Amino acid sequence: MLGKAQGDPISITGLGAYAPKRVLTNEELSTLVDTTDEWITERTGIKERRIAAPEEALTDLALPAARAALAQAGVEARDVDLLVCATVTPDMMFPTSSALLADVLGAPDAGAYDLLAGCTGFMYALAQAYGMMAAGLAERALVVGGDVLSRILDWTDRSTLVLFGDGAGAVVLERTPQRGFLGFELGADGGGGIHLSLPGSGSRRIEDATGNGYVHMNGREVFRFATRVLVSSAEAVLDCCGVSVDEVDVYVPHQANVRIMDHAAQKLGIPRERMVVNVDRYGNTSSGSIPLALAEAQRDGRLKKGDLVLMTGMGAGLTWGSGLMKWTL
Ligand code: ACO
Repeated sequence: MLGKAQGDPISITGLGAYAPKRVLTNEELSTLVDTTDEWITERTGIKERRIAAPEEALTDLALPAARAALAQAGVEARDVDLLVCATVTPDMMFPTSSALLADVLGAPDAGAYDLLAGCTGFMYALAQAYGMMAAGLAERALVVGGDVLSRILDWTDRSTLVLFGDGAGAVVLERTPQRGFLGFELGADGGGGIHLSLPGSGSRRIEDATGNGYVHMNGREVFRFATRVLVSSAEAVLDCCGVSVDEVDVYVPHQANVRIMDHAAQKLGIPRERMVVNVDRYGNTSSGSIPLALAEAQRDGRLKKGDLVLMTGMGAGLTWGSGLMKWTL
């Protein structure tokens, strides 16, 4: 799917993020599995990640992020008429985390649903919410992306354990005087899905129960896929919107691995200083990754009104998605 924004201008008017307090460093990980700080840093750029407390579930991380986004937008929860929560680790399959969030926030008139698109979930949710608003079906949307991947990792598998962390972010979408969203590109390749899977998590019977309920990943294949689509998806949306890569002020790729991100920035021709990097402190937070990075960039004064922002996610599915926007806050 590839398209240029039409109709009323719509933009992000509020942004918030939350990560659990508990910091898990590479050094501490090396006491749990056979790994070292050097290996993890060199291969991924990750130094530490946040881990949810046993009593914390997805909505406990999403709630403070959503409240912060609503506060920044100056929007009351009761005025939100669409709530989309992108996650692969909802509190439970149902009730959906979006319905639970709408209830706790006090958004009784919101259509609320969860969206499953792996680490690309936030980009898919953003495009959907934009589309519903552009079509006149919704006026004010709250888009949440977050995951508690620590719950679906095999804590004895060093090849996946070191990569991921927990966190959530949220944005409010409203009609704005200036055009924020300029275009989106979304894609999926189920044929490659086997390279990043969660066996035993749905209706497919898996006779060999080994590893059921844990993330399985073919790291090399995912690496190849990620370096390819981060570039092709970004180029597609830039081309569709008639924008040159030189015009991109802030580049926010999915925070999976600093080597993948550096490779994409280099191939695209985006100077490293324009890329937002926080994977060193959070690891890969899946659907939480892009909104967490956006929120940090905003806090650090790196997102200025009028900036051209390019976001690209990729992950399980296999899926990918880009969004291009002018920052209007
Ligand atoms: N510590 C120490 N050694 C390790 C670790 C570890 N944590 N994990 C693997 N190794 C070993 C392997 O066993 C292997 O040893 P061997 O040569 O004796 O067999 C060796 O290190 C090299 O393993 P590779 O898998 O070849 O290492 P590679 O350079 O490919 O790096 C990595 C692995 C970091 C996982 C890389 O493939 C990668 O980043 N892939 C993409 C992963 C990713 O980003 N996934 C998420 C994206 S999608 C989403 O966000 C859900």
